[in-house]
Amino acid sequence: MAPAISAEELAHAGLQLAVEGAVATITLDRPQVRNAQVPRMWAGMARILGELGPEVRVVVVRGAGGTFSAGLDLSLLDPSQTDEEGNFIATLAASDQEIIDQIGIYQLPFAMLADPRFITIAVVEGHAIGAGFQLALSCDLRIVAEDARFCMKEPALGLVPDLVGTKPLVDAVGYARALEICATARFVPGDEAGEIGLAQVVVPAAELDGVLAATIDALTAHVHGAVTATKRLLQEAPSRSLEDQRLAERTAQVARFRALAGG
Ligand code: CAA
Repeated sequence: MAPAISAEELAHAGLQLAVEGAVATITLDRPQVRNAQVPRMWAGMARILGELGPEVRVVVVRGAGGTFSAGLDLSLLDPSQTDEEGNFIATLAASDQEIIDQIGIYQLPFAMLADPRFITIAVVEGHAIGAGFQLALSCDLRIVAEDARFCMKEPALGLVPDLVGTKPLVDAVGYARALEICATARFVPGDEAGEIGLAQVVVPAAELDGVLAATIDALTAHVHGAVTATKRLLQEAPSRSLEDQRLAERTAQVARFRALAGG
């Protein structure tokens, strides 16, 4: 069943949603500002991800208009901003704990992309900056156009990346490369993203949709429950000892045996 979010709510959030069979595609849809992100967009994404039905096996995240996302909408850092989102500077009147809790709410959709129920794919063309880079990092896989440009801009703005991007970046490229990319806030081009393990596939932009379709076919070819349980095992492996991981494998296999036997 598709999420109950209305067309008006999607437009307000700056999102498009298409659910076709096992595939849900969430498109950031504010191309006039290069898909810059605002809290109502994150709330919409969290709602969509929370309401996806069990038939959804793959979630694709992409941007409208030939670019992924220019990151946080910079108007949120403008103290004179007065629209419904307000501005982040005004939140400094809140207590430390209130700000921490608020950022926790903003982080929700980024964290939800790790849900083992589905495999998440960022399709990145053009820019993936700041929150855009972190959104791409929050997905399990990145299919990237040669013209893509990733940048962790936050340190250049006097900030830290706080939208769930630091751990997957270190996991993908290692501590030293992650530090170099973040501390310099340099642009990482698509071909380099492939070489350092940030992207799983790098192709000319015109080939993105074909590669995406083939990847989805391959990812959905096998038993859903087995793929889900395997994703969970792989996610949890780095934080476990070998002994504990062996136990987790055995335990997961019991559930698979019983599922295959119809019990
Ligand atoms: N917020 C708001 N508006 C943005 C925006 C952003 N992040 N990025 C682009 N826009 C707007 C521009 O102001 C411009 O608007 P107008 O047409 O009204 O002038 C429009 O989008 C097109 O932008 P450009 O002409 O700059 O487009 P470009 O293709 O030449 O360049 C770009 C694209 C490299 C992404 C460039 O727009 C850019 O550098 N944007 C800012 C990126 C940035 O600093 N993002 C914040 C990162 S920090 C973060 O995300 C997380 C955090 O917590 C702080």
